[in-house]
Amino acid sequence: MEEELNVLILEDVELDAELTEYEMRREGLKFTSRRVETEKEYLNGIDNFNPDLILADNALPSFDGLSALEIAREKCPQVPFIFVSGKISNEFAVDVLKKGAKDYVFKNNLSKLVPAITRALTEKDELEELIESRNKLEKALKEKEMLLKEIHHRIKNNLMIISSLLELQSYYIKDQADLDFFRESRTRADSMAIIHERLYQSKDLKRIEFGDYVASLATDLLDIYSISPKKIKLDIKAAHIMMDINTAIPLGLITNELMTNSLKYAFPNNRNGTISIIVSKSHDIFTFIVKDDGIGFPKDLDYKKSDSLGLELVNSLTNQIDGKLELNTNGGTEFKITFKELEYKESI
Ligand SMILES: Nc1ncnc2c1ncn2[C@@H]1O[C@H](COP(=O)(O)OP(=O)(O)O)[C@@H](O)[C@H]1O
Ligand SMILES: [Mg+2]
Repeated sequence: MEEELNVLILEDVELDAELTEYEMRREGLKFTSRRVETEKEYLNGIDNFNPDLILADNALPSFDGLSALEIAREKCPQVPFIFVSGKISNEFAVDVLKKGAKDYVFKNNLSKLVPAITRALTEKDELEELIESRNKLEKALKEKEMLLKEIHHRIKNNLMIISSLLELQSYYIKDQADLDFFRESRTRADSMAIIHERLYQSKDLKRIEFGDYVASLATDLLDIYSISPKKIKLDIKAAHIMMDINTAIPLGLITNELMTNSLKYAFPNNRNGTISIIVSKSHDIFTFIVKDDGIGFPKDLDYKKSDSLGLELVNSLTNQIDGKLELNTNGGTEFKITFKELEYKESI
């Protein structure tokens, strides 16, 4: 409060205003004051005098303190407003404080005035600091979000480039098994690209709607493998579940492996069938199932110890999310993963 204050005084009795000023000066306040009496003068004072503080009497011949308070709240809500009045009833005092006055002081007890002013101005400074730091925080948060979006966008673009390069490269390959390798590598890149695409479109930026994601992944796979939906039906039951990127990426890759296997192995010789994907959550346990009603998983193969890349990936990605992997071979092949969503530390 080193700078000189502009004090707008709404007071019809000149002597009362002088007493108020005298008290402020006596207590060492540096200020310039302007006394106003009517609504017109008061409005003009607010607009042109730029007050740092408003002191108002309540009863004036043509105007009143409560209306002045309302005007101040609307036009300059940050400027402290203090009633300096001859008599104030308790109800009135409570009422004006509720309506936004900072304080009230009796004219016959002016020694309370400067402490009230000091309190009000300190509060105002503190509030301004708080608002300023909140604005800075909001700005920083917005910048962080923009940056995150930008990064997800770039990661998605780069993954799509890898996917396209693999596709282009595969045009030079004649061997069917080699072509399959390329196609599988491509869909692995795609499954991650879709996650990043959804992340920068989502408000959350760290979590995606998993059901939607799995559904679009599965449809894309049918498309890439040029399989008619008449031959293999998709049955997706996914509850509305938001999932953290750290869980969604491994699960997306797992979905890709298991569904690719169903497409490749479960329905030989033009066999028809259905691939089901079920995602559910009960309490904090997630259940994730990919199953088909095809020819069944080979009896002589240990799915936990397979040395082929697909199932090896499924096992290690399941470990990565601390999940449990089970195989059920009743009427086809069903892989079931149960897991809890991990608590992730803020990484960015
Ligand atoms: N849904 C399924 N139906 C029938 N057989 C399957 C199924 N999923 C996996 N398999 C068998 O498990 C084997 C291992 O799968 P995977 O580890 O993904 O390797 P890859 O797909 O490269 O052969 C497959 O070669 C296939 O014989
Ligand atoms: Mg495979």
